[in-house]
Amino acid sequence: MLITKIKQRFPTLKNNPALVYLDSAASSLTPQIVIDAMNEYYQKYRSNVHRGLYDISLKATEAYEGARVEIAKFINAEPNEIIFTAGTTHGLNLLAYTLAPRLTHRDNIVLTRMEHHANLVPWQQMAKHYGFEIRFIELDTTSYSLLPTSFNVIDANTKIVSFAHVSNVLGTIAPAKEIIKIARAQSRALTIIDAAQSIAHIPTDVKDLDCDFLVFSGHKMYGPTGIGVLYGKKVMLEEHLEPFFFGGDMVADVTYADAVWNDIPYKFEAGTPPIAGAIGLGAAVKFIQGIGWEGIIQHEQSLTNKLINQLTNNGVQIIGPKTSNDRTGVVSFVIPTVHPHDIGEIVNRAGVAIRVGHHCAIPLHKMLRLTGTARASLGVYNTEEDIDKLMEGIKNVIKIFEK
Ligand code: ALA
Repeated sequence: MLITKIKQRFPTLKNNPALVYLDSAASSLTPQIVIDAMNEYYQKYRSNVHRGLYDISLKATEAYEGARVEIAKFINAEPNEIIFTAGTTHGLNLLAYTLAPRLTHRDNIVLTRMEHHANLVPWQQMAKHYGFEIRFIELDTTSYSLLPTSFNVIDANTKIVSFAHVSNVLGTIAPAKEIIKIARAQSRALTIIDAAQSIAHIPTDVKDLDCDFLVFSGHKMYGPTGIGVLYGKKVMLEEHLEPFFFGGDMVADVTYADAVWNDIPYKFEAGTPPIAGAIGLGAAVKFIQGIGWEGIIQHEQSLTNKLINQLTNNGVQIIGPKTSNDRTGVVSFVIPTVHPHDIGEIVNRAGVAIRVGHHCAIPLHKMLRLTGTARASLGVYNTEEDIDKLMEGIKNVIKIFEK
C-alpha cells in the first residue's frame, strides 16, 4: 500500500484538510476501518461477551476473542497471554500493585532515567509501602542513549526490571534484549517492557525479547482510546500474578466464603470488558499489518531524518539521538530563549499540532535542566509536506523572537 494514500483513510485528516498532525506519540489518529469495526459492533450485534447463548452475544464473543487472537499474533504471543486493559498506565499499575507485595527492604527494582511517570510513580508509591530500593539505568546526556556501564545497577537483589522500549521524550530505543539478558543472568528478575511508544513503530516479538510482561495502549497504534494490552508469559500469568480486580467472569466458582479463579486470561478481566475497544484494536492491528513493517519503518525513518536535519539546520537543539537508526520519530527539541509553549502556540496558528511541556516525564526534564520541550511525533500518515509546514512555523517562531 502506498503510504502517500494513507491520509485519506483517516477521517480526522479528511475533515480537517489544513491540519498537520504531529502528535502521534500523545495519541495517534484512527483510520476508518477501526471506526467501522466498532460501529458494526454497536449497530449490528451490540451485547455482552461470554454470557449470552443467543446469536448476537455469540457473535460479540467471537469478535472480541478474534481480536485477542490478532493481537497475540501481532506480538508473537499466545491468545491466553493477552489481557485487555484500559491502557499502558492501567497495565503498569496492575503489575506494580500485584508484584510489589512480594518485595522487601532487601530488594531493589531497576527502571531507567527516561521513564514516563506511568512507569515511575506506581513503583515509587509501592516502594514507600514495601521498603524496596528503586535504582536507575543512567542516560548518556550527549548521545541520549542508555549508558551500558550503568547496567550493573542490576544485581543479585534486583527483583523487577521495568523500562520503556522507546522514550516518549527522546525517541531513544532501549537495548531491550540486552537489559533482559542481564536481568535474567543476575537474579532472574521479572522484566517488564513499556511498549507504549514502540508498538506502532517497531516490530514487537515477545518471544524474541524474552520479557515476562509487556504493556501498551490501543490509542497510540491507530486504535481506539480506553483499550490496552498487558501481555504476560503463560507461566507468569498462571503461577506468579494474582488477580487484581475481582468480580464477574474472572471466577470459575464462588461460594459465600470464597472464590476460585477462572483460567487465564479471564481471571484478569473482571467485569464487562471494553468490547468495542478490543474489536477496534483488532482492526488497528490489521491496518498496521496491511501497510507492513518495512514500509512503516522506511517511511518514518526517512521523515525523522528530514525533521532532525531541518531543525538542526535552523539552529534548533534536538533533545534525543541525532540519527534515525537508534531512535523512532518522536522528536523533542528546544529553541534557546523561546518557551516551548510559545513554539506550540505559534505553530498551531498555521494548523500544526505538536505537544509542548514535560510530556509526563518531569524528572527527565529536570535532569536535563529543561523546563520543557516542544515535541513533534510522527505517524504513518505524515508526509514531507507536513515537515515543511512545521518548519515554516518554526522559522516564524525564530523570526518573532529575534526581534
Ligand atoms: N504518554 C503520552 C505522551 O507522551 C501521552 O504524550
